[in-house]
Amino acid sequence: MILAPANDESDDARQGAGGPAHGVRHAAIIMDGNGRWAKKRHLPRAAGHKRGVDAVRNTVRAARDLGLEALTLYAFSSENWKRSEEEVSDLMGLLRHFIKKEIDEFIANNVRLLVIGNYKALESDIVEMIDDLMARTAHNDGTTLAIALNYGSQDEIVRAARSLAVKAAAGEIPVDAITDGHLAAELDTASLPPLDLLIRTSGEKRLSNFLLWQSAYAEMYFTDVLWPDFGADDLKAAIDCFVSRERRFGGR
Ligand code: FPP
Repeated sequence: MILAPANDESDDARQGAGGPAHGVRHAAIIMDGNGRWAKKRHLPRAAGHKRGVDAVRNTVRAARDLGLEALTLYAFSSENWKRSEEEVSDLMGLLRHFIKKEIDEFIANNVRLLVIGNYKALESDIVEMIDDLMARTAHNDGTTLAIALNYGSQDEIVRAARSLAVKAAAGEIPVDAITDGHLAAELDTASLPPLDLLIRTSGEKRLSNFLLWQSAYAEMYFTDVLWPDFGADDLKAAIDCFVSRERRFGGR
């Protein structure tokens, strides 16, 4: 059997048929500045991360209210293991707490949880909680919250390339027939709409190995707001800025 691309990477699909009137079907956020938020207040970094979780909750609610089909959040990169053992443990503790606490709200509000990245390498109880929550929300068709955990975009692309290579070696797809759509269909984000808007908080202007492939035609929005202070008004401001831009997708 020859596989057809599962992801439609055509201009029509990128420009989005349907979806909310503001045009942002999928936004992603590099949540940055928790440490600086805490430092400014002479608090431990953990306090910044804790407030960061409140910002996650508020932002997910705002995304739902604004009719986004998907919100992808960069919660833990494959590079974040380099942080102190204490900080990694604090972040994992917050993640456990978040999953336990939010499950009812997700189910009540038709939110689907998707975890992207190599999350199976996390501690086994967290992996079980994630698999359970993903299974229980798999059929929800409201907003998808995609959380990137132990995620690195280059690693994601390598995994996708390997998976295509296996299919090519098995004769499922001729090498010459491989398109960008086939590769996109192997990415962890295959079930999400094309990325429209990429936001980074805290004034930094880097992609930090986040959604490199998916950002090909995304609008970039950088704000000085530190992540723990981010909320519904900031998401709205980013979307308003998106609306004011003219997207060309390489045309004129
Ligand atoms: C960046 O701030 C933030 C992170 C590395 C982690 C983001 C995590 C959370 C918001 C909490 C956990 C998330 C969930 C979904 C439960 P930083 O520490 O790099 O800040 P700095 O650059 O100011 O030091």
